[in-house]
Amino acid sequence: MHISENVSLKPYNTFGIDVIARRMGAFTNVEDLSVLASPGTLILGGGSNILFTHDIDGLVLRNEIRGIEVAREDEAYIYVRAGAGEIWHGFVQQALDRGWAGVENLSLIPGSVGAAPMQNIGAYGVEIKDVFHELSAYHLDEKKVYTFSLDDCEFGYRESIFKRRYKGQFVILDVTFRLNKRPHFHTEYGAIREELEKMQVRELSIQGISQAVIHIRQSKLPDPAQIGNAGSFFKNPTVPREKFEELREQWPGIVGYPVADSGVKLAAGWLIEQCGWKGFRRGDAGCHARQALVLVNYGHASGREIFDLSEEIMQSVQAKFGVGLEREVNII
Ligand code: FAD
Ligand code: EPU
Repeated sequence: MHISENVSLKPYNTFGIDVIARRMGAFTNVEDLSVLASPGTLILGGGSNILFTHDIDGLVLRNEIRGIEVAREDEAYIYVRAGAGEIWHGFVQQALDRGWAGVENLSLIPGSVGAAPMQNIGAYGVEIKDVFHELSAYHLDEKKVYTFSLDDCEFGYRESIFKRRYKGQFVILDVTFRLNKRPHFHTEYGAIREELEKMQVRELSIQGISQAVIHIRQSKLPDPAQIGNAGSFFKNPTVPREKFEELREQWPGIVGYPVADSGVKLAAGWLIEQCGWKGFRRGDAGCHARQALVLVNYGHASGREIFDLSEEIMQSVQAKFGVGLEREVNII
């Protein structure tokens, strides 16, 4: 339970932003957490969905609660509990190795198991809400552990109760997933089907889908080990169908997918690219050349520079298309 002082957070966030935490430590169980933490403590997983815009004048704690175990099983499902400090992709790999289906489309998403419910991580047609059973979380103020069911978490697109109403109040300790003994393959995403064809996969398997997802991700998304980033910086915005039709008349190439309640989800990457930002660089802050939705740090950008760039991008998308973008990344 060692606490260090004046620690650079550069190695602890995938944007590679160099800010200082006045105090920093880690915990491997709830007992240590309850001794160290108080309301206002910043909990850090892999730092892959966070943009630091200033030094942290308080305590930062890394979640290092480990362990993956089968909680129970029935004819159709395996209920697997994973510590919040487990690496998400390590958990996915273990599921693949043991033939547990449901998380293969979520392969290679950076970060920890504990942060995954925070924004209901999603990719290629699957979100963690689809395999979520329950989680336990520690209330920083009340110093009590609560269990949250699927309904309690209020999951939405890149949303949960922990990102909204209970922001900063709970520390997720472990998550129990309900994985399938018999796979239901999700290949509705065009890119997955194309990739499986390219790989000449004849019989679908969870391993094959995972490989396809990994290939697609590696071809598009910058590796944070090489260029600092936090994945999609903005959410894909949803507009009413009439607004979409209006936009399509003016810009026939606009990319959108119908979603529930007569809305259309627009590809924010397309909107940003049309505003001329793709490949833009000012100093070390930039908009990625292969994926306009990803903002990048080429080395020494400050969080403020990345934030200011995001502000300019939002303003230009609003001015050109009349569409407001919302940030996905947590701004600190
Ligand atoms: P951190 O960045 O450490 O934390 C994120 C937020 O959660 C912070 O506010 C933090 O305080 C809080 N937090 C972290 N752990 C806990 C805990 N145990 N209890 C309470 N609060 C906590 N996301 C997707 O959904 N889909 C993608 O396809 C995707 N692709 C990505 C690709 C790249 C290259 C990168 C860099 C990121 C991508 N992301 C994607 C975003 C990111 O991987 C996820 O949001 C991930 O869940 C973040 O995990 P983390 O442990 O790094 O969280
Ligand atoms: N597009 C462009 N230009 C660009 C980027 C995208 O025109 O520079 C258009 C293309 O038409 C493309 C479409 O946008 O077909 C969608 O792009 P992509 O398939 O790359 O997906 P995305 O909408 O940009 C979302 C998620 C990703 C997730 C992928 C796959 C959000 C905010 N992002 O990206 O999640 O991995 O789909 O499901 O929903 C993340 O959240 O950090 C993240 C990476």
